[in-house]
Amino acid sequence: MKLKIAVLAGDGIGPEIMEQGVAVCDAIAEKFGHEFSYKEALCGACAIEKAGDPFPEETYRACMDADAVLFAAVGDPKYDNDPTAKVRPEQGLLAMRKKLGLFANIRPVATFECLIHKSPLKDELLRGADFIVIRELTGGMYFGEKYQDNDKAYDTDIYTRPEIERILKVAFECAQKRNKHLTVVDKANVLASSRLWRQIAKEMEPQYPDVNTDYMFIDNASMRVLTEPTFFDVIVTENTFGDILTDETSCITGSMGLQPSSSLGEHTPLFEPVHGSWPQAAGKNIANPVAQILSAAMLFEHFGLSEEGALIREAVNASLDQNVRTPEIQVEGGKQYGTREVGAWIANYIKNK
Ligand code: IPM
Ligand code: MN
Repeated sequence: MKLKIAVLAGDGIGPEIMEQGVAVCDAIAEKFGHEFSYKEALCGACAIEKAGDPFPEETYRACMDADAVLFAAVGDPKYDNDPTAKVRPEQGLLAMRKKLGLFANIRPVATFECLIHKSPLKDELLRGADFIVIRELTGGMYFGEKYQDNDKAYDTDIYTRPEIERILKVAFECAQKRNKHLTVVDKANVLASSRLWRQIAKEMEPQYPDVNTDYMFIDNASMRVLTEPTFFDVIVTENTFGDILTDETSCITGSMGLQPSSSLGEHTPLFEPVHGSWPQAAGKNIANPVAQILSAAMLFEHFGLSEEGALIREAVNASLDQNVRTPEIQVEGGKQYGTREVGAWIANYIKNK
């Protein structure tokens, strides 16, 4: 298969984990006889510095022209600590989501047997947990009308019926392909937007009779993912709740550095790690490249290349089993591997398989 991949490495640890992500794509191309071409483009703080815009037109065109976007991370503390900054790296990410119409953010939460002891949760709670959070990504408070003066500020949590219907459709269909259990997470006891979500979900339920659908308030759900993570199969929720809930769910598995995601919608699909740009670690060769590498696996699976995806997952599991791990998950006394070494090990595993 020929695939044009737009490569957006972004900021912080982005470039070094992306290097390993691309090396793994190359290994897959070699192994399976595919032809992947890459087009690098700027996004985030590096784009502000070089082009004055966190999501320049040229990057937008590169994304639109590609079959898929492989994205790493954006963000720089320089902007976080400056409330007067007119442009911020995160605006690049939001502009990209909006312009590419990436309304469905799929964040799987899978545990790795050998890392269960790293989780802040007790083994017996976590064992067997395997669910997907589907976060609506282009609506709600993130994009609703905003206002700010010295005495008053607001953000509008707005959702329209078509926006809700299309994300619920993705969620129902995802549940149908899995264990047929969908949990709609909202705050319908307080928020009007949540009440519309719930109303529409109930209207759609009869179209998916094989799916067992339940409803949970976000405050309760954020407790339940900690106390009974095995309860869940597919969770669907609005943008802001999904943002918060997926940081929580990404850490219960033992390492944030292992969680990939995809964002799908109207235009080019995008694949990225759930974690951020970790600027403090940039250039130190300590960041875990696995989330980036698994994002590439999700990319291939999206295009029906399931054998390719499975081989990447097998290689990642083998690296973990053989303690080829970055410092944050290395066993006591285990050999230290850096970002490059872990990436190279996984790429070699694939080539030699
Ligand atoms: C995420 C991030 C972004 C978000 C930030 C960087 C704007 O936290 O992808 O979850 O809030 O959506
Ligand atoms: Mn977030």
